[in-house]
Amino acid sequence: MNSYGLGGRVAVVTGGASGIGRACAHVLARSGADVSIWDRDRAAIDLVLKELEAYDFRSHGAVVDVGDAAAVDAAMDEVREALGHVDIAVCNAGIGGAAATSGDYTDEEWHEVIRVNLDGVFYTQRAAIRAMKASGRGGSIINMASILGAVGFPTASAYTAAKHGVVGLTQVAAWEHAADHIRVNAVGPGFIRTPLVETHLDAAALESLAAQHALQRIGEPEEVAELVAWLASDGASFATGTYYPIDGGFLAR
Ligand SMILES: NC(=O)c1ccc[n+]([C@@H]2O[C@H](COP(=O)([O-])OP(=O)(O)OC[C@H]3O[C@@H](n4cnc5c(N)ncnc54)[C@H](O)[C@@H]3O)[C@@H](O)[C@H]2O)c1
Repeated sequence: MNSYGLGGRVAVVTGGASGIGRACAHVLARSGADVSIWDRDRAAIDLVLKELEAYDFRSHGAVVDVGDAAAVDAAMDEVREALGHVDIAVCNAGIGGAAATSGDYTDEEWHEVIRVNLDGVFYTQRAAIRAMKASGRGGSIINMASILGAVGFPTASAYTAAKHGVVGLTQVAAWEHAADHIRVNAVGPGFIRTPLVETHLDAAALESLAAQHALQRIGEPEEVAELVAWLASDGASFATGTYYPIDGGFLAR
C-alpha cells in the first residue's frame, strides 16, 4: 500500500461512505490528509469514520445530497470552518440508474441520474474551486467519470451521458483554473467490485463483465483509489485536464 505525502492537506470525498469513495478516504487518510466524508446517510458515514480512526488525522462527516447545490455549498463552508481549508476534492458520489434502452428511458429516470452524476459533480467542483481560490493554496479536483465517459454501453444512456459530461466539465475547469493553481482531472474506472455493481448483477453477469476486461476480472475499489491519491498529490504536478481510464484494459480493445 502506497502513501502519497498528503500531510497538512484537507480532502473532501463525496460518496465516501461506500465503494470507491470509501477506498479513497482510506488512502487519503493513510497518506496524512484530513478527510471529510460526504454521503446521504449519517450512520454509513460514521462507520467509515470509525474505520479511519487508526490514522493520525482530523476527520469530518456531512450528510449531503450532491444534487442539491445549496446543501453542497453549506457542506463546503462547514468543512472550511472545521478543518480550515480544502485542498483536494474527490467528486465521486454517483448512482447507476435504471437499465433501459434509450427508447424506453423515462423522464424521471433520466433526470435523477443527470441530477446526481452530472449536476452533483458540477456543484461539488464549483464549491471546491471557490474554497480553493479563497484559501489561495490551489488544489486538486478529481472527478469520478467511468469507462462510460469514453464509450457507450447499451441500457445506460443517462449514465453514459452524465459521465461524458463529467469529462467535459473537467477539461473546461482545468483550463479556467490553472492560473489559480487548481488541477482538475477525471478518472474512468472499468467495472469495479462495489455495491453499485454487485447489487444489480448476479454471478453470471459479473463473470461476463469480467471477460470484457483484458485482465479478465473486474477491479477493486482500492485500485481506483491509488490513482485518485496520486492525482491528489504533488507527484501529479503536470497532470491537469486529463481523463485517466483505470480499467483493466476494457478500453484497449
Ligand atoms: N463500481 C463501478 O463499476 C464503477 C465504474 C465506473 C465508475 N464508477 C463511479 O464511481 C463512483 C462511486 O461508485 P461506487 O461503485 O463506489 O458505488 P457505491 O454505490 O458503492 O458508492 C456510491 C456512494 O455515493 C453515495 N451517493 C449516491 N447518491 C448520492 C447523493 N445524491 N449525494 C451524496 N451521496 C450520494 C451513495 O450513498 C454511496 O455511498 C460513482 O460515480 C460511479 O458512477 C463506478
